[in-house]
Amino acid sequence: MKNENLFRKLLMLWHKNENKRMMPWKGEKNPYKVWLSEIILQQTRVEQGWSYYEKFIQQYPNITALANAKDADVFKLWEGLGYYTRCKNLLFTARLIRDNYNGEFPTDYNSILSLKGIGSYTASAIASFCFDLKYAVVDGNVLRVLSRYFGINKAVDSTESKQFFTKLADECLNKKNPGEYNQSIMDFGATVCKPVPLCTICPLNKTCIAFNQNKTNVLPVKSKKLVKKDRWFTYFIFSINNKKYVQLRTAKDIWQNLHEFYLVEDKQNPEWNIASIKTYLSNALNIKNANAINVVQAQKQVLTHQHINGCFIIVELLKKSSTLNTLKGEWLSAAEIKAKAFPCFIHQYISAKTALQQQLSI
Ligand code: ADE
Repeated sequence: MKNENLFRKLLMLWHKNENKRMMPWKGEKNPYKVWLSEIILQQTRVEQGWSYYEKFIQQYPNITALANAKDADVFKLWEGLGYYTRCKNLLFTARLIRDNYNGEFPTDYNSILSLKGIGSYTASAIASFCFDLKYAVVDGNVLRVLSRYFGINKAVDSTESKQFFTKLADECLNKKNPGEYNQSIMDFGATVCKPVPLCTICPLNKTCIAFNQNKTNVLPVKSKKLVKKDRWFTYFIFSINNKKYVQLRTAKDIWQNLHEFYLVEDKQNPEWNIASIKTYLSNALNIKNANAINVVQAQKQVLTHQHINGCFIIVELLKKSSTLNTLKGEWLSAAEIKAKAFPCFIHQYISAKTALQQQLSI
C-alpha cells in the first residue's frame, strides 16, 4: 500500500476507535459555529477557548446577531483571550457577510478564503467540516505529524518546502470524508503526536519513520529560531476621588482598541525606585506631590513575538494633574472600569485587586 494510503487508513482507524477528544464544536456543520471555534482556536488552547465559544454562541447565536452587536460589547466578551485582531476581524467579517452575503456564510473555498481573518488553514477547516470540500488543513500540528511519520527533513517553516507539504497533505486527505479526516489529524497532533509524543501508545508507530529511526526529537525541522523582543510596560494607576485615569489604545500595536492605565514603555527594565518615580512624575507630568506610591510587579505575558514585562505603580493624586487632563484618557469609577475591556496583563491586576477588596470587605 502506498505510504499516504496507509497513513490515512491508520489515522482514521485511530479516530474511530481511540479518539476520545470531546469539544462542543466537533461534528458541527453550521459554518458560523465552525468559523467562530476556528478563530478562537487560532491562538488559544482548547481548554481556554471552550467557555468563550459557549458564551459567544449564547450571546450571539448567529452571524447577524454578531454583526449587529456593539464593538465594545464584543470586545468585552473576548476579554482574556488575547490577540484581539481576531476579534476585530470577526466583527468585520460578520458585518460583511450580513451586508454582502445576505447573512449566509459563503460556501466555496475561495470566497471563504477571501474573508478577513481567515487563512488557508481556517478556510480548509470550514470548507471541509461544513461543505465536504476536499481541502486538507496544514498548520504546525499537521506539519509535525507529517514530517515525523514520513521522516521528512525539510524545514517546515521555509517557503521552499511549503508546496511540498501542501501536496503531501492533499495526498493524505480522505477525499470521501475530508472533514472527518481533518478533525482526526488535528486531534491526533494535539493528543498523541504532541511536541513530546506518546509513541509507545501510538497505533501508527510501526510505520512511522521518526519513531523507527529514533528521530522524534529532531523532527519537525525548523529553520528559523523565533527571537522574542522584550518590552517593559509600566502602568501608572493615577487615582483621585475614587476615579482612575484610563486611556484607549489606538495605535497599530498589540491590544489595539483595549483600555489601559497611563503607560510608560521601556526597552529595558526601568527598575523603578521611589526617587526615580518622583522624578518621572515631576518631569513628565508636573506632578509634584502624591500619596501612597506603591509598586506591584506584573505577571510577565508571553506572546508569539514578544514578552511583555512590567509593573503597576499606584499613585494617589492630591490634586488633579493639568498635564494628565490634556491627554486623551478619562477618569473612571471602579464600576466603569469593570465594564471596559482591558488586556489580560492589566486584567489580572484589576481582578486580583477586586478579589482582595472583597475579601477585606472594602
Ligand atoms: N484546532 C483548530 N481547530 C481545531 C478543531 N476543530 N479541533 C481541534 N483542534 C483544533
